[in-house]
Amino acid sequence: MTPLATFVIAIAALVVLAAVVLITSARRSDVRGAGALARETVKRDKSIKAESGDAPAGSAYESQAIATRTAVLEKATEVAPVIWQAPDQEAIDVSRRQFFNRATIFLVTTGLASFGAALIAFLWPRAGGGFGSKVTVGRLDDLVAQIRSERGFVYKPEARTWLTSYPADSLPKARLSYGKQTVSTGMESGIIALYQKCPHLGCRVPECKSSQWFECPCHGSQYNRVGEKKAGPAPRGMDRFGVSVTNGNVVVDTGTRFNGPAIGINTTGQEAEGPHCVSGETKH
Ligand code: FES
Repeated sequence: MTPLATFVIAIAALVVLAAVVLITSARRSDVRGAGALARETVKRDKSIKAESGDAPAGSAYESQAIATRTAVLEKATEVAPVIWQAPDQEAIDVSRRQFFNRATIFLVTTGLASFGAALIAFLWPRAGGGFGSKVTVGRLDDLVAQIRSERGFVYKPEARTWLTSYPADSLPKARLSYGKQTVSTGMESGIIALYQKCPHLGCRVPECKSSQWFECPCHGSQYNRVGEKKAGPAPRGMDRFGVSVTNGNVVVDTGTRFNGPAIGINTTGQEAEGPHCVSGETKH
């Protein structure tokens, strides 16, 4: 085959091939182009249109649906804008004024409660020892010996009490003069507990070792060793406490105080055994 014949055949083949490509492309664009519906869709649309008669279809249907939705919409009610206001600080938090008010109330209440509790505790008779309750002051034998060694007088500060000996041979007269209920077990055992406070105006009455009496420095009241009044302005003898002896222990009941014996009672007959510490001449 000559070159010219080969060239002619090649050109003819290219022309045929180009024609086939063009025909195929045109057919694809017609059948499956952008936006084209598939054959089944077109067929279904045609059948629906046939069933619905004059019902709109396609873009008409969409336009009608949009119009229906727009007609149904209602305009929202206009609401006036709310002006922002700062929150009430007292409503959401404790203000400084509230803090100080509450702190003041708390402190005042606490102070009053503490004061009341302290006052009640001070006035309440003590049950666990100390003045105002029963105070154990020691063994009877030891106390009798101590009174003798200290020349007649022993002071017990925890009971605010003077302890002295009471002569056994004076007991019958004491029962007559004081009354049986005032004569304590302690006196029966040879010991008496005298309240330190002068029955005149309340001074603490010290002992006088030289006279063996009690002699008040305030106004000169004098009492013998068992607290019977001998001179001065006091209205009676020295007050005394109930004393009991339990298992050899002497207990002074400082919550039970008896008034001192009346003026003129002198159960022991003890006179001053030496010089007085204070004058008994002062009168008030
Ligand atoms: S207080 Fe003791 S004599 Fe006046």
